[in-house]
Amino acid sequence: MHKITMTERTRRILRRGGVWTYLLAMLIAAAGTVIILALLMNIFTRKQEATAPHQRIVEVTEDTIDPAVWGINWPRQYDSYMRTVDYERTRYGGSDAIPKQKLDKDPWLRDMWSGFAFALDYREARGHAYMLADQDHTERIKQRSQPGACLHCHSSVLPAYRYAGDGDIQKGFEIVNSMTWNEARNMTDDHREMLIDHPASCVDCHDPDTMKLRVTRPAFKEGIRQYKASKGIHDYDVNRDASRHDMRSFSCAQCHVEYYFTKPDNQLVYPWHKGIKVEEIEAYYDEIDFFDWEHGITGGKMLKAQHPEFELWKQGVHAQAGVSCADCHMPYRRVGAMKVSDHHVRSPLLDVAASCQTCHNVPEAELLYRAHTTQDRTRALIDRAGEAMMDMIDAIVDAKRAGATDEQLAEALGYQRKATWRLDFVYSENSMGFHAPQESARILGESMDYSRRAVASALRVKADPQGEPREVERAPIEGVTPDEKAPPMPSPGRS
Ligand code: HEC
Ligand code: HEC
Ligand code: HEC
Ligand code: HEC
Ligand code: HEC
Repeated sequence: MHKITMTERTRRILRRGGVWTYLLAMLIAAAGTVIILALLMNIFTRKQEATAPHQRIVEVTEDTIDPAVWGINWPRQYDSYMRTVDYERTRYGGSDAIPKQKLDKDPWLRDMWSGFAFALDYREARGHAYMLADQDHTERIKQRSQPGACLHCHSSVLPAYRYAGDGDIQKGFEIVNSMTWNEARNMTDDHREMLIDHPASCVDCHDPDTMKLRVTRPAFKEGIRQYKASKGIHDYDVNRDASRHDMRSFSCAQCHVEYYFTKPDNQLVYPWHKGIKVEEIEAYYDEIDFFDWEHGITGGKMLKAQHPEFELWKQGVHAQAGVSCADCHMPYRRVGAMKVSDHHVRSPLLDVAASCQTCHNVPEAELLYRAHTTQDRTRALIDRAGEAMMDMIDAIVDAKRAGATDEQLAEALGYQRKATWRLDFVYSENSMGFHAPQESARILGESMDYSRRAVASALRVKADPQGEPREVERAPIEGVTPDEKAPPMPSPGRS
C-alpha cells in the first residue's frame, strides 16, 4: 500500500468537514485539471489548424483544374465554393433555380439590342458553379455562331491555352479565341481527355505552389497594363506589381468587366487604353472606329456593354475607401482559430452581418434599407432611360419612313450610340447602382439627354426629308459573325 501523506490543510478540512468535503475538493481539483488539459489541447489543435493551409495531403499543379482535388487539402474553402450551386433571391440580385429571362421583364431590351444576339436570350446571372453550363445552354450560343473567346471567363481554360499554344499561354489564348466556340469547347488533349471541363476553379485564382492569389487571364493582364499606362505607370505586370489587397479585386476583375472582340479574328480585349470610366472606354471605341453590331432597326453602329462591375465599383465610395470585391462578396468566417474566406461568392445582401457589419456598426435593417434605396432609385432612372430610348428609336423610324436620308440621320444615330451605350452600361452592371450610386445616376442622366437629343434631331430632319419615303424593316439577329439562317423578325415599333 502507498503511504498517503496529508498536508496540515487537508487534516484540518478532514477534522472540520469530514471525508465528504475532502472527496469533493479532490473532485474539483481533478475536474480543474481535466478542463485545463482540454483547454491546452484545444489551443494546440487550433494552432495546428491555423498552420494547416500549408499542409498538403495531395499535390496540386497547374493542370489540376478539378476543384475536388484541391478540396482534399483545403476542405473549408472547397465546401463553400461548392455552395455556389445554391439559389436565393434578393430584391434585385441573388439567383434562381431557373435564371429569369430579362428580355421578358424589360421588353424594351429587345429593341435596344435589335439585330444582336442578346435580343435572343439574356438572363439573370447565378452562382459560379453554373458558368460553363449556362454558356452551353444560352440561345446566343445555340442559335448563333460565337468564338472560342467566350470560354476565357466561363471555364478553367488554362490547360487548353497551354495545349493549343504548345506551352505558350499567350499564343494558345490567341489561337483558342479565334476558333469557333464549338471547336474550342470540345478540344481534347493527346489522351482524348476534354481540356475544358470545369467552371473557373481554384487554379484560376491561386498559385498551386504557394496558394498566393494571382491573375491568370491573358486579356486582364494586358487590359490592366494598358489602364496603368493610361495613368502614367508603364510596363505594369500585375502578378509582380499588384499588392495583395489589389488582388482581392483583380482576381474578380479577370471576368467581371467590359470587353470586346476584334474583327475579324475575335481576339478578346478589355478596352481600358484611355481609362475605365464610361466615356473613356467610349473614346477608345470611337478612336478605333469600333462597333459591336449594326442596329437592326435604325442601322446605327452600336456598342454593347457587358457586366462592367470592376469599372463601376472603381468609381464608388467603397473602392475609394479601399473596400475590395472580396471584402463584401467573400467575407471572412471564423472556423476554429482560422479565418476562412467564404468562397460561396454571391449577393452580400444575403448575409449583411458577415458582409457589411464588420465595418458598419448599424443595424441590419438600416443597411438593407440604404442599399435598397440606392437600388430603387437606380431602377426608376433605368425605366425612364428605357422609355427615352424607345422614343428615340420610334423618332428615327418615323424620319426614315418620311424619307430622311442616312446622311441626314447621322447625327441622331450618333446620339443613339451614346445613349444606348450608357443605358446598357448601368443596366448590364449587376449591382443595380449599389457599387457606385452617384456615378450610375450620372450615366443614366446622360443617356436620357442623348436619347432626347436624338428625338429632336430626328424630328428636325423629318420635317425636311431629302430622300424618298422608305420601308423600315427589322434586320435579323446576328451572332458575332453573320448568320445567313437568321429567322425573319416582326416589324419594328411599339404596337
Ligand atoms: C461594399 C460592398 C461591395 C463591394 C466592395 C463590391 N460589391 Fe458587388 N455587390 C454588392 C451589393 C450590395 C450588391 C447587390 C446585391 C443584390 O442586389 O442582391 C452587389 C452585386 C454584385 C453582383 C451581382 C450579384 C447578384 O446577386 O446578382 C456582382 C456580379 C458583383 N456585385 C460583383 C462585384 C465585383 C466584381 C466587385 C469588385 C470589382 C464588387 N462586386 C464589389 C456589394 C459590394
Ligand atoms: C470578360 C469575361 C467574359 C467573356 C469574354 C464572356 N463572358 Fe459571359 N459572363 C461573364 C460574367 C462576369 C457574367 C456574369 C454577369 C452577368 O450575367 O452579367 C457572364 C454571364 C453570362 C451568361 C449568363 C447571363 C446571360 O447573359 O444570359 C451567359 C449565357 C454568358 N455569359 C454567355 C457568354 C457568351 C456566349 C460569351 C461569348 C460571346 C461570353 N459569355 C463571354 C463574363 C464573360
Ligand atoms: C473566370 C471568370 C470569373 C471570375 C474570376 C469571377 N467571376 Fe463571378 N461570375 C462569372 C460568371 C460567368 C458568372 C455568371 C454565372 C452564371 O450565371 O451561370 C458569375 C457570377 C457572379 C455572381 C452572381 C452570383 C449569384 O448568385 O447571382 C457574383 C456575385 C460574382 N460572380 C462575383 C464575383 C467575385 C466577387 C469574384 C472574385 C472573388 C468573381 N465573381 C470572380 C465569372 C467570373
Ligand atoms: C475567383 C477567385 C477564387 C477562386 C476560384 C478560389 N479562390 Fe481561394 N481565395 C480567393 C480570395 C480573394 C481569397 C482571399 C485571399 C487573401 O485575402 O489573400 C482566397 C483565399 C483562399 C485561401 C486562404 C485562406 C482563406 O480562406 O482566406 C485558401 C486556402 C483558398 N482560398 C483555397 C481555395 C480553394 C481550395 C479553391 C477551389 C475550391 C479556391 N480557393 C478558389 C479567391 C478565389
Ligand atoms: C471593409 C469595410 C466595409 C465593408 C465590408 C462595407 N462597407 Fe460600406 N462603407 C465603408 C466605408 C469606409 C464607407 C465610406 C464612408 C465615408 O467615406 O464616409 C462606406 C460607405 C457606405 C455607404 C454610404 C455610401 C455613400 O455613397 O455615401 C453605404 C450605404 C454603405 N457603405 C453600405 C454598405 C453595405 C450595404 C455593405 C455590405 C454589402 C457595406 N457597406 C460593406 C466600409 C465598408
